[in-house]
Amino acid sequence: MNDNSKTRALMRRGIEFLGSEYAILCGAMSWVSERNLVAAISNGGGFGVIACGAMTPELLDTEVAETMKLTDRPFGVNLITMHPDLFDLIGICEKHGVSHVVLAGGIPPKGSVEAIKAFGAKVIVFAPTLALAKKLLRSGGDALVIEGMEAGGHIGPVSTSVLAQEFLPDLAADHLVFVAGGIGRGEAIAGYLEMGAVGVQLGTRFACATESIAHPNFKKAFFRANARDAVASVQVDARLPVIPVRALKNKGTEAFTGKQREVAGSLDREEIAMAEAQLQIEHYWAGALRRAVIDGDVENGSLMAGQSVGMVREEEPAAQIIATLVEQCEDALVRR
Ligand SMILES: Cc1cc2nc3c(=O)[nH]c(=O)nc-3n(C[C@H](O)[C@H](O)[C@H](O)COP(=O)(O)O)c2cc1C
Repeated sequence: MNDNSKTRALMRRGIEFLGSEYAILCGAMSWVSERNLVAAISNGGGFGVIACGAMTPELLDTEVAETMKLTDRPFGVNLITMHPDLFDLIGICEKHGVSHVVLAGGIPPKGSVEAIKAFGAKVIVFAPTLALAKKLLRSGGDALVIEGMEAGGHIGPVSTSVLAQEFLPDLAADHLVFVAGGIGRGEAIAGYLEMGAVGVQLGTRFACATESIAHPNFKKAFFRANARDAVASVQVDARLPVIPVRALKNKGTEAFTGKQREVAGSLDREEIAMAEAQLQIEHYWAGALRRAVIDGDVENGSLMAGQSVGMVREEEPAAQIIATLVEQCEDALVRR
């Protein structure tokens, strides 16, 4: 019988760290990664992560409690570092004894890592450069996710394959590194594990799982799309640095250009400061994503998706997606 022993052996440190069957995280996806998908991922052998996004502490409180009713396996909570109530959200995680907190969207503000570790949770961080990764791991980060520009949602400028070659040789021996961005099949997982990653994170591949509450129109758009349809947004005004977002091309892609012009205009007229301008852009994305995921408006909403979208062809239960990924990974390792 195939016990996936090669995959498990290479994932051993990631599995011990997460407490899951396999070191496969479903990265937090705003509006998508709520109780149903998160519990299905963790119950299916992976590691689910609740996307807090712009939720209030009260909403997160409910979401964590409801997720715990659906699974007794470990899962994480992803908090956006620029959330104005970040420390209250950390307090909610403490109240529920959440085991893993992912800090996304920027350098963690002073005291946040310490506040999470104080109640015994593990902290997972993102870093766009090797120097920052080392700094975050020195100052309390327990594990690192490196995410390439193939990914869906907010992205950096460098591809996953290059990040993996830059970060893993330096960090893999002493640190826990998960690789994300553009992973659609298990053969790719095998490759990153062999390079020293302890696990992987996928988003796009899980967004249309049977248990995902994403609107049927959203899922249909994913099933139809090819890699080349998942494009990065462009910055139209040099004065307003916006983090690029990868999403399926639609009318909403053009509307974002208009939104940037509007916000840049407010900046010019000194009606708002830069921090407020960037927050307005982020609110815009949160609203646009909601429109597509929840309301099913796939014309005007944001269909955030990574380049692996071409490998998403039908609805499948989360457990089946995980089983397929592990089988492909194991087969690849056995063939070596
Ligand atoms: C629809 C969608 C929404 C996302 N929202 C978030 C988010 O709120 N916070 C976050 O840290 N990452 C977010 N991501 C990124 C995922 O957590 C994950 O890292 C990424 O999807 C991995 O790359 P892949 O899409 O190529 O699998 C999102 C991705 C998608 C596709």
